[in-house]
Amino acid sequence: MDLYRLALKPLHLLEAEDAHAATILALKSGQILNLGPRSSYDPPELRTDIAFKGGTLAVRNCVGLAAGFDKNADVPLAMSRAGFGFVECGTVTPLPQAGNPRPRLFRLSEDEAVINRMGFNNKGLEVFASHLERYQGRASAPVLGANIGANKDATDRMADYVTGLKRLWGLSSYFTANISSPNTPGLRALQGRAHLDELLGQIATTRADLVRVTGNNYPIFLKIAPDLSEEEIADAVEATIAHGLDALIVSNTTIERPVSLRSDLATETGGLSGAPLFGLSTSALRSAYKVAAGRLTLIGAGGIASGADAYAKIRAGASLVQLYSALVYKGPGLIDEIKRDLVQRLHADGLTHISQAVGSAA
Ligand SMILES: Cc1cc2nc3c(=O)[nH]c(=O)nc-3n(C[C@H](O)[C@H](O)[C@H](O)COP(=O)(O)O)c2cc1C
Repeated sequence: MDLYRLALKPLHLLEAEDAHAATILALKSGQILNLGPRSSYDPPELRTDIAFKGGTLAVRNCVGLAAGFDKNADVPLAMSRAGFGFVECGTVTPLPQAGNPRPRLFRLSEDEAVINRMGFNNKGLEVFASHLERYQGRASAPVLGANIGANKDATDRMADYVTGLKRLWGLSSYFTANISSPNTPGLRALQGRAHLDELLGQIATTRADLVRVTGNNYPIFLKIAPDLSEEEIADAVEATIAHGLDALIVSNTTIERPVSLRSDLATETGGLSGAPLFGLSTSALRSAYKVAAGRLTLIGAGGIASGADAYAKIRAGASLVQLYSALVYKGPGLIDEIKRDLVQRLHADGLTHISQAVGSAA
């Protein structure tokens, strides 16, 4: 019996954000006391090396935690111990901010979905950095991504990404520039080609300076929305390649509301994630894969709730996958379920390593 799955019932009696806060608190205590969900199932079939200009990002399995669960990098070690191959923390903004008024997080249980309009609530770069410093030089350090964003009131939003990169350089395994949250008004406008070129140009220049000064390089990813047109997806792929970024995460939450939604909460404003996002985000991924034509690593996120879903993302072109919402409904046991199922599916297809399946259905 999966105890953590049993714990979901009482958790779901709480308001969604309170349940999340209680979960983070429990995981934080578990991190200290060496308790909590635990998996050391890391089959060689799922080990993945992501090559980038400055070296290799090695993950012990290709299933990662998507951003937004651990906004302040409180529990990356707990989530890594629970079985994720990599853990993306954030979005962190330079200054702390409260985010939107509550309620701002909704479980659409009938749809196995979530709507959030959190609005980048986070404690800011200094607290985030102090948490990452705990893992410096530790052999057990998780593969940890810093997802960086801009403050709502920033006069120069692009400068906020530069600030994030500079402050966290050397403290995280990789970076993600998040320009696709629907909950910071105007943020997604950064996905337009002209803005994107300027932002990625600034990120690339900052990176080159940091590499020169520190001698270290880290992969930088860009995270896009699933609501972009084919042309905008193509622009994002080309701009990411042109500015030497290392991967594209497809995708963030959607502002669409598929007609299939059954929950009364479907009309809440915000980004929709979970099962109903799967089709949209996978088709965006497929489009990105076609345009990239082998020139760019892709990371698939959006509605993954099973091994079949993760495998579909990989076959659509993802080298790594990430998930968040399905944890709300299935608990941490899902992580190993997905990994076991992925290995079975690989073998059934006569393959020996996950990389052989990447893009096989594109
Ligand atoms: C409550 C919540 C908060 C989120 N916050 C962030 C965030 O701060 N930054 C970000 O890049 N993505 C954020 N996301 C998006 C997820 O990282 C992911 O891209 C999206 O939810 C799709 O994956 P899923 O269907 O497995 O949840 C958030 C998602 C949820 C549900």
